[in-house]
Amino acid sequence: MAIERTLSILKPDACLRNLTGRIMTVIEDSGLRVVAGKRLQLTQERAEAFYAVHKDRPFFGDLVSYMISGPVEVRVLEGEGAVAKYREIMGATNPAEAADGTIRKLFAENVERNSVHGSDSQENAAKEIAFFFTPEEFTG
Ligand code: RTP
Ligand code: MG
Repeated sequence: MAIERTLSILKPDACLRNLTGRIMTVIEDSGLRVVAGKRLQLTQERAEAFYAVHKDRPFFGDLVSYMISGPVEVRVLEGEGAVAKYREIMGATNPAEAADGTIRKLFAENVERNSVHGSDSQENAAKEIAFFFTPEEFTG
């Protein structure tokens, strides 16, 4: 399998509950490597743009409010099959359905406040990475 990159977001519930270190331990233990990262506060406009794919879903307004309710940490993760691997260690969107040992099973509060985001395809990963990072922000 090829070396890929994927976008990770540690969402406001994780940042506000001081869980970022514990979540990063799960990510790093999986073998994925951080090649870029920062903490930031999303604005309403930026959160709406990032989740534009969900703009017609009933939960869109709540999702945007939640995503601007505190800081987020965005990182680019790199490794073999990084997109699928990170989705696997995140677990199902709803923590009630997430497998044991996954980030969402361990830490998420509910289907919305589910601690982490991960890109769902290589195509979306490329778009999401470009949404947050410039080429100068990457390490080797
Ligand atoms: P993500 O994009 O954040 O990695 O999560 P995902 O692919 O597992 O889930 P997705 O369907 O893309 O939904 C994006 C985020 O919207 C919130 N959500 N709330 N109230 C609800 O029923 C509901 N469903 C989804 C979650 O924060 C979810 O991660
Ligand atoms: Mg998604």
